[in-house]
Amino acid sequence: MKLLEATNKNIELATNALNSDGLVAFPTETVYGLGANGLSPFAVAKIFEAKKRPTFNPLILHVSSIEMLNKIAIVDNFKIDRLIKTFWPGPLTLVLPKKNIVPDIVTAGLETVAVRMPNNKIALELIKKLNKPIAAPSANYFGRLSPTSAQHVNNQLGDKVDLILDGGECSVGVESTIVKISNDENLLLRPGGIPKEDIESIIGDLKYRTEVETPNSPGQLKIHYAPEIPIYFYDEKKIQNLSNKKLGGLFFQYSKLEKNFNSIKILSPKGGFREAASNLFSFLHQLENEKLDMIFVERLEEKGIGIAIMDRLKKAVNKYL
Ligand code: TXA
Ligand code: MG
Repeated sequence: MKLLEATNKNIELATNALNSDGLVAFPTETVYGLGANGLSPFAVAKIFEAKKRPTFNPLILHVSSIEMLNKIAIVDNFKIDRLIKTFWPGPLTLVLPKKNIVPDIVTAGLETVAVRMPNNKIALELIKKLNKPIAAPSANYFGRLSPTSAQHVNNQLGDKVDLILDGGECSVGVESTIVKISNDENLLLRPGGIPKEDIESIIGDLKYRTEVETPNSPGQLKIHYAPEIPIYFYDEKKIQNLSNKKLGGLFFQYSKLEKNFNSIKILSPKGGFREAASNLFSFLHQLENEKLDMIFVERLEEKGIGIAIMDRLKKAVNKYL
């Protein structure tokens, strides 16, 4: 059995696996990570192989202390200090100048490294025990839905990992916000669990660098995070002409055209973006498994975490355009 409850003993087993260059899936507050010893090129290579992820796509190193951060990256700006003090541990990833100790395979040869301190006890304990940063992308196949439960990981990558630490459902449910901050500009590379506005209230305006030729952050790829069945934005006319199809509906607060759908999920009955984000991938996983012909998802207002949710949805919908 690879799916193990995250007890102290099992965290110890996971640490041993990481120390022997194995792969361990573990919970974070955003999504489950597919972890390897971030200072071992050999171990990190296994992540790319298991995920079928292109190696031009760099990884995030997860740290458990500022001391560990200082071993792998240079904090050369007071704005970054402020962000760390305000948002760590939490769903904020910082792209920083890297130190030599970081293997090239982690950064895809870039001079910068992405780092974050996750706000999850199990993740922090695991990193602390390993006493090295853990390299971890989301624990799903490249391009597919991100996992927000240990079961999601088991379904996709169960036979590729040494073990999966089960820490229940992820509380945030969308990946971390990624920023790159320098003296002259503040860039938002990927919207995520911390709203843009919250970051701006600490360091001033953030520019969203999107749809660049060579993605600065492959989280900017136009197609990503897609379910295996076609997904489209909610379109009343289109839906009314599809009476012979099995349809899934993913709505924000209230359902529409209820009788036209075989399955309906409501992201947040209370109408909150945080709740919606925490349900997003889990509901998409459920709909993906319900033998539907297609899924229609309602557009959300693009503010707060709504921006991150719409980012994931657009990238899913783009696959089926
Ligand atoms: O919430 C999260 O961030 C989750 C959990 C597991 O921590 N991880 C995650 O990793 O989403 P991944 O690999 O799916 O996304 C990492 C993103 C990629 O889009 C990658 O391109 C970007 O971080 N990235 C990594 N290093 C970078 C760098 N040096 N410069 C720019 N972007 C970078
Ligand atoms: Mg991912």
